[in-house]
Amino acid sequence: MTTNFDPRDPLVRIDPYPIYRRLRETDPVHRSHFGYWIISRYDDVDAVLRAPGVSSEFYRNATWANRRGGRDSPLVRSVQNWMLMLDGPAHRRIRSVIGSVFTRSSVERLRPRIAAEAERLLDAMGGGEIDLIDGLALPLPVTVTCELLGLPTQDRGRCRRWTEQISRVIDPSIVTEDTAEMNSAEVEFRGYIFDQLEKRRSTPREDILSLLAHTEVDGVRLTDDEIIANVLFLFVAGHETTVNLIGNGLLALLRHPDQLQLLRYNPEMISDSMDEITRYDPPVQIVSRLLTEKVTVQDVTLPERAKVMLLLGAASRDPARYPDPDRLDLTRTGIRTLAFSSGPHYCIGAALGRLETSMVLTELLRRYAKIELTTEDLAWRPNVSFRGLQELRLRLTF
Ligand code: HEM
Repeated sequence: MTTNFDPRDPLVRIDPYPIYRRLRETDPVHRSHFGYWIISRYDDVDAVLRAPGVSSEFYRNATWANRRGGRDSPLVRSVQNWMLMLDGPAHRRIRSVIGSVFTRSSVERLRPRIAAEAERLLDAMGGGEIDLIDGLALPLPVTVTCELLGLPTQDRGRCRRWTEQISRVIDPSIVTEDTAEMNSAEVEFRGYIFDQLEKRRSTPREDILSLLAHTEVDGVRLTDDEIIANVLFLFVAGHETTVNLIGNGLLALLRHPDQLQLLRYNPEMISDSMDEITRYDPPVQIVSRLLTEKVTVQDVTLPERAKVMLLLGAASRDPARYPDPDRLDLTRTGIRTLAFSSGPHYCIGAALGRLETSMVLTELLRRYAKIELTTEDLAWRPNVSFRGLQELRLRLTF
């Protein structure tokens, strides 16, 4: 039996895991009706992500670019400098500079700021019936990225509006009608970051933007276009991913009350538990690649120029890698999660996303004696590459 996989199918939105199981078992290298090859087993996903001859340069595809305003639109010109969308030396050049300022200590320094912001947002929500996505999970990552870069607190609202528009560029199901708003957000955000960069050039501060304005790695200094594009991308990269990890992580705990209790009485477990929480319901479900040469997966030879979707969510539930994969088990060991990808594009912000989520979950359990879902009728966000809740309506009791 073959499974006709379509990530836009409402059933996939609600619960992709039974469909992933069928794919892994019966059609692990699936030729979809919309032209992509779909790979679902852990070892295969990992191997393709690390293989030579796979490209991330989707902006070169005319249909992809046209749906986002065309090759010369502000957005597509910006995306051509995003490290996520580059291969080989061009990718390494940008990643080495951004990676050099995105250190463990720069992330650790944010800990008190994340705690203060989570407390402020939870204070504002109080108790009773709330929506955790709108009240906390959505605003937190934008504020944290502003803090990381050293942008003024009063600009968070604008940064959040621009980020929400621009983030849609990586949704494969985007339609042309969306492009005008996305492009004008790009132009405004670019102007804003340019001004901030100029200020750092004349008066450097202790922040990442100042470092980017002055850093040289192995003789490489980024151009203004490259710095601005990748600063916008940091907002995009840290946005829906972290929102979804907070929402999916809490939902998983609420659906496994024994595991929630374990964490409530052993809060020091949180750091080690983040691997399992991320594995269980990954925020990014699909990453895509274009093949620049033939690649063989499970005896199937995928041709040059094939488009491939790698199902990170399916790989995370592969029983060949994780026994009893549909169970959330915070004591599980030996996890090597693919939720942050693998190979050259492995997520630079993994430690930051994990830290934000772990601090939010710990604070929720510390603050509230009881956390309950008020409805099982959950709505999922529309971006097909991601998996995250539109709303997470809870009843919080002190
Ligand atoms: C919390 C949850 C997060 C998840 C699940 C996540 C997931 C991912 C994934 C799957 C990729 C690779 C995409 C691909 O292979 O095509 C990626 C790349 C990236 N992520 Fe994250 N991310 C998260 C948070 C963050 C944060 C907070 C930041 C920074 C503010 C960030 C910055 C990046 C960057 C810069 C890349 C591109 C790396 C490259 O292309 O070399 N991420 N992320």
